[in-house]
Amino acid sequence: MCGIFGYVGTRINAGQLVVDGLKNLEYRGYDSWGVACKNEQGDIIVEKDIGKISTVDSRQFSQRCTQALAHTRWATHGGVTKKNAHPHLSTDRTIAVVHNGIIENYQELRDELKNKGHSFLSETDTEIIPHLIEEEMKSTEDFASAVRRACKKFKGRYALLAMHTTSQTLVAARTGSPLIVGVGYEDGPRPERGAERRVEGYFIASDIPAFMAYTRTVQYLDDGEMVVTDGKNVIFTDIENGKERPKREIEITWTVEQAQKGDFEHFMLKEIMEQKESIARAVNQDEEQILTLAEAIRNAKGTFLVACGTAGKACMASEYFFSVIAGHHVNFAPASEFKLYHHFLQPESLLIVVSQSGETADSLEAMKVAKSKGAKVLAIVNVKGSTIDREADYSLRINAGPERAVASTKALTGQLAVLMLIAYAMAGKLKNGKTLLLETSSMINDMLNPRYIERIENLAERIKTKEDLYIIGKSWNFPMALESAIKIQEVSYIHAEGFAGGELKHGPIALIEEGTPCIALMGNDEVTTDILSNTIELKARGAFTIGVAPQRNEAFDEWLKVPDAGHAQALVNIIPIQILSYFLAVKRGKDPDMPRNLAKSVTVK
Ligand code: F6R
Repeated sequence: MCGIFGYVGTRINAGQLVVDGLKNLEYRGYDSWGVACKNEQGDIIVEKDIGKISTVDSRQFSQRCTQALAHTRWATHGGVTKKNAHPHLSTDRTIAVVHNGIIENYQELRDELKNKGHSFLSETDTEIIPHLIEEEMKSTEDFASAVRRACKKFKGRYALLAMHTTSQTLVAARTGSPLIVGVGYEDGPRPERGAERRVEGYFIASDIPAFMAYTRTVQYLDDGEMVVTDGKNVIFTDIENGKERPKREIEITWTVEQAQKGDFEHFMLKEIMEQKESIARAVNQDEEQILTLAEAIRNAKGTFLVACGTAGKACMASEYFFSVIAGHHVNFAPASEFKLYHHFLQPESLLIVVSQSGETADSLEAMKVAKSKGAKVLAIVNVKGSTIDREADYSLRINAGPERAVASTKALTGQLAVLMLIAYAMAGKLKNGKTLLLETSSMINDMLNPRYIERIENLAERIKTKEDLYIIGKSWNFPMALESAIKIQEVSYIHAEGFAGGELKHGPIALIEEGTPCIALMGNDEVTTDILSNTIELKARGAFTIGVAPQRNEAFDEWLKVPDAGHAQALVNIIPIQILSYFLAVKRGKDPDMPRNLAKSVTVK
C-alpha cells in the first residue's frame, strides 16, 4: 500500500533516481504518483499526477538535485486525483511529506490546524502531516525535533518521509508500515573483500527493490522509530523519548535480476514459471530447525495458523496436511478474524503466521494478540528482515525470491511446501516429506512446458467471455478451489467462487446454467470418487466441466492433466489455474500485474 522512496547524498540526479527506483515499488500502489526535489536554490519543486509511475519518463527530473523523495499511491482517504497525490506540502511550501498508512485522528488534528489558520488543498489524511510539522517548527529550529513532536500526536499505523527547504536531512518515521534504509557505498553493491567503504548517500524506501541497483546493505526501522540522515551520517532514534537506537547493517541476498521481468511480458507469468525452482528452495530448510518446530507444535497447547488471502489458503490446506500426515489438529483463522480467538490462547499456545511480504497489517495484529497472551509465534515468510520475520520468536523463510506481481503464485507453493514439510517432520517422516516435495518440484518442472501452457491459453480463449466461473475441490483441494477463485477474480475480474464439492447440493448448484464453466480439482486418493460424483452432478445441470486431475474422466468436457503428486497434489493442481487466470486477464485486456483496486503488501487494517 503506497510506495515511498527518498534519497540524500552526493549523487546529483536524486530526482531521476527516486522516480526510477519507485518504478520498482509500483506493485505497492498505482493510482497516482509524485516527486519532490530540492533545487540548487533550496526550493522544493513538486511534480505529481494520476496514473502509473511506470509511464513517467524520469529524464524530466534530471535537473541537479541531491535530495528528493517520491511516492506511488494506493488511495485510502480521498479519491484518485492529482490534488490527493503525494507529496503534500506545508502552507509555506518549506516542508514536503510522503506517507503510507492511515493517520486515524487526522480529522481532529485538521480541525485544530484549521483553527490555527491552516488551509488544506486535498481530502487526504496525509496533508495534515506537513502542516503539523510546520506548526511544531514555530517552537523548535530543528526539523527532526518538529517531526518527532508531530509523530507523537498521530494515532494509527503509518510510515512517513519528510524534507525541509533549509535542512540537509531526510527524516522518516514508522509505526506499523515498513521503511528500510539502504546504505549507499561509493564502491556500489558488490564491494571488494576487506576494502574500506565510504558512504556516498542514504536511501529510504518502503521496500528494497527501490534501491537494489545501488546497494544491498540495509538497516531496518522498527515500529516507534525515526531515522535522520544528511547523506553522510544516519541516526536512528526512539520517537517517544529521542534515545538513540543502535542498528546493524544487513546484507540482502536477492539480486537485481530476480526482481526484474527479464524476457517475460508480465511478472505474474515469470513468477508462475519460477515455481520450477522456488519449491525446491522452500524445501531446502535446516532439518534440525524443522524438527524443533515440529516438536514445538506437538507440545503446544493449541496451534493456530493465521494469514490473509492466498497465504490464508496455504494455512487452510495445512489443516489437512497436519491431520492426514501427522494426525494432529491445528486451527486456521483469517488473520483479520483472529482477535476473538484470544480466549483460547495461553502462554503454551503457538501461533503460526504465514505471509509473503511479512508486512500485512492484519497478520501483525494477530501476532500482537498472541504475544499479549504470552504465546510463542512462528513466522513463515518470504521477505527476510520484514516486520513479521523480525518480530516472531522463530522464523522460517520460503526463499521464493522477490514476488512482484500483485497476485501471489510462487509464494503460495513455497508456503504449502514448508507447512507440509513440518507436518511430515511431526509424523517422524521428514526425509519422506522432503523426497515427495522435491519430486513434486521436478514434476512441476516437466509440466511447465510450452505445449502445456498453450493448451491452457486456448482454454482461456474459450471461456474468456464467461461472466461466472466455479471451482470445486475436496480435502486440500478445497482451499485450492478457494485460492483458484481469488486468482481468477483478482486478475481477470470474472466472478469466480470456490466451493467444497460436497457443499454444491446445499445451495450453490442452483447457480449452474447451460455452459457455466466449472473446474474440479482432484488427485488420485480416497476422495476422488466423491469429487467425480460432484463433477457429474455439475455436468448433468449443463456445466462445461474442466477437470484438473491426473487421469482423464468422461465427466470432464476439458481435461488439464496434472501429475499424481499424492499428498502434494495441492501444489501441482493450483499451477494450471494460475496460468489460466493469467491468460484470462491478458485476453480480457487487463494488466495481470496491477489489478484494479488492489496493491501488494496490505499494510492497512
Ligand atoms: C492474492 C494475494 C493476497 C495476499 C494477502 C496476504 O493473490 O496476493 O491475497 O496473499 O494479501 O499477503 P502476505 O502474504 O504478504 O501477508
